[in-house]
Amino acid sequence: MFSKYKKTDPLVAKATAAAPKAASNVTKIPAPAAEPAAARSTVMKQAPVKAVASAGDKEKKRKERLGDIKLELHKSLLDNLNLAALENATDQDLKAEIQAIAQESLEEMGVVLNREERQQLTKELFYEVKGLGPLETLLQDESVNDILVNGPQQIFVERAGKLQLTDITFKDEKHLLRIIDKIVSAVGRRVDESNPYVDARLQDGSRFNAMVPPVAVDGSLVSIRKFKKDKLGIDDLVQFGAFTEEMAAYLQAAVSTRLNIIVSGGTGSGKTTTLNALSSFIDNDERILTIEDTAELQLQQTHVGRMESRPPNVEGKGEVSPRDCLKNALRMRPDRIIVGETRGEEVIDMLQAMNTGHDGSMTTIHANSARDGVSRLENMIAMAGIEMPLKAVRSQISSAVNLIVQASRLQDGSRRMTSITEITGMEGDVISMQEVFKYQRVGLTPDNKIIGHFTATGVRSHFSERFKLWGYDLPPAIFEPVAAQ
Ligand SMILES: Nc1ncnc2c1ncn2[C@@H]1O[C@H](COP(=O)(O)OP(=O)(O)OP(=O)(O)O)[C@@H](O)[C@H]1O
Ligand SMILES: [Mg+2]
Repeated sequence: MFSKYKKTDPLVAKATAAAPKAASNVTKIPAPAAEPAAARSTVMKQAPVKAVASAGDKEKKRKERLGDIKLELHKSLLDNLNLAALENATDQDLKAEIQAIAQESLEEMGVVLNREERQQLTKELFYEVKGLGPLETLLQDESVNDILVNGPQQIFVERAGKLQLTDITFKDEKHLLRIIDKIVSAVGRRVDESNPYVDARLQDGSRFNAMVPPVAVDGSLVSIRKFKKDKLGIDDLVQFGAFTEEMAAYLQAAVSTRLNIIVSGGTGSGKTTTLNALSSFIDNDERILTIEDTAELQLQQTHVGRMESRPPNVEGKGEVSPRDCLKNALRMRPDRIIVGETRGEEVIDMLQAMNTGHDGSMTTIHANSARDGVSRLENMIAMAGIEMPLKAVRSQISSAVNLIVQASRLQDGSRRMTSITEITGMEGDVISMQEVFKYQRVGLTPDNKIIGHFTATGVRSHFSERFKLWGYDLPPAIFEPVAAQ
């Protein structure tokens, strides 16, 4: 039996004895038969009904039944297991315990499961106790990038750029809240009615955001951006069609010759991935300081100082804003500063840093095009309460920022660098810019895949002299437009 982890409390016997009552709940669902004896053979009796039901219905019923049994077993596990002792148990031990308790409880419930169902059940119960319940399978699935929970009954995942509804669910809101609580308490945070949202980095580096009711109207909302140990590098991105080798050569020259670069894009468009990939072009002997809300960047260089800003605590104290980090970073003798995302008053210090000796700095902003990105910067400056004539603001931006790289998630789920735009100066009151590369869309396939290709626009790079002086003599062919195939 379940030796060392079993509770010795005599009350346990009572709890286990209650199981048959629960069992009648479970078995009631698939079969109308009420007698215990009939319920006992539910699995067999169901067969003819199943034969008429569609495959989808069958699967749904099976899931519901397993869900109910799981819930009962989970209760029985919590009653029977000594959770304190379990903390140090090996996974193997724990699995064995769960299997033993599950077996015993199933027998008491009079439920017969096939081997596959039993294995699935043990796995899920194991995840309930040790992992993050229904989310665990998704967290372990390498093909999943994002996990998005909209209340207990709806979990979406993003695979290969496409959002898909999964058939995984939580039992109810309480179950979902329990898992959220498990996640946030592990990283020393709290979320409840008075503190209804939390943004955190999980121990494995994944980015986690949750909002609970009543602010979240239809049940808790959870978003997880899974941490990828092997971030996509330049070669991967070229191979995935995010940009071309020619564009990569241009970007290498831009980073190496210390142009200040902004990666612009919408939510989840690949900004951080692009920023991370661009950073690989930085020389290994440079001192790089990174500032992020949630540390996601993984720089390969030796000399890297990483900072993570911190929101205020429940009493509204202890905040360390990105601006605080940035101001401090400037005192730390950086060669380059990389800010994960510029979205507020830190823009002032970022532009100043770019203008004053920390060239080669990079950041990302939320914007839909290079022009839109510039307006964003202007707005951020205005919102920061800086009283400066618009022309002065623009001149500050145009002398700080050299390049805007636009990342986009297109409607077919593909992520591409849809534009590389140089900022060339001011013309009157307007910032002048020129697009050097772009993604030219030409149509849609019948299954809604975008047809298109990358091309240079044909303009001569504003920085070609600089590139040449620094030893990056890019072949002129790179800048020649490509005709559609
Ligand atoms: N070109 C690409 N091809 C395939 N997957 C990509 C590509 N670029 C990024 N991804 C994946 O897309 C997801 C989102 O990327 P990323 O975190 O870089 O986006 P983001 O714009 O920074 O998002 P957010 O706005 O949430 O900060 C990640 O899981 C990443 O691995
Ligand atoms: Mg990001």
